[in-house]
Amino acid sequence: MADSLAQPVSDTAPAAPDAAAPSRRDFINIVAVSAAVGGAAAVAWPLIDQLNPAADTLALASLEYDLSKVALGQEVTIAWRKQPVFIRHRTPKEIAAAKADDHAPMKDPATDASRVKPGHEEWLIVLASCTHLGCVPTFAQGEYGGWLCPCHGSVYDTAARIRKGPAPKNLYLPDYTFLGDTRVKIG
Ligand code: FES
Repeated sequence: MADSLAQPVSDTAPAAPDAAAPSRRDFINIVAVSAAVGGAAAVAWPLIDQLNPAADTLALASLEYDLSKVALGQEVTIAWRKQPVFIRHRTPKEIAAAKADDHAPMKDPATDASRVKPGHEEWLIVLASCTHLGCVPTFAQGEYGGWLCPCHGSVYDTAARIRKGPAPKNLYLPDYTFLGDTRVKIG
């Protein structure tokens, strides 16, 4: 388009005027209107698209995750239903520490076994939102070897149970199912 507009128009003798042919001014006007229509369509598309039954939202109502991507002692944070979720591959030391505290005084008492799925205790899957005001805690900080929420100092252990600070509840567990040893479906 830019090349054709840049072509010189006066290299040859002027043609006889033809009332039916668009003049150069008409051509410029047509281009301007076309651009305006194209721009309106470009603006309208996201608005229309937002009104569609959101296929992406439906897909995210549940999601599958390949656990082989998470090495022992590591965790990932994934997005599920627009909220962060921790998937932590716990070490034997982390599991032992959590079990050892099963009967310690806690605000929101829960055993380690109640926080994981039978046969998959190395995987801890929790919503990554502090139950105080929703900040995302950081792992490997705090005296219980789990997470520390930097906002107001809530401390969670290696089963993501609240142990200190203002948060009232353990990190919440989403609904999830193991589809195999290395595949989980959340939601
Ligand atoms: S939001 Fe986590 S301690 Fe306040």
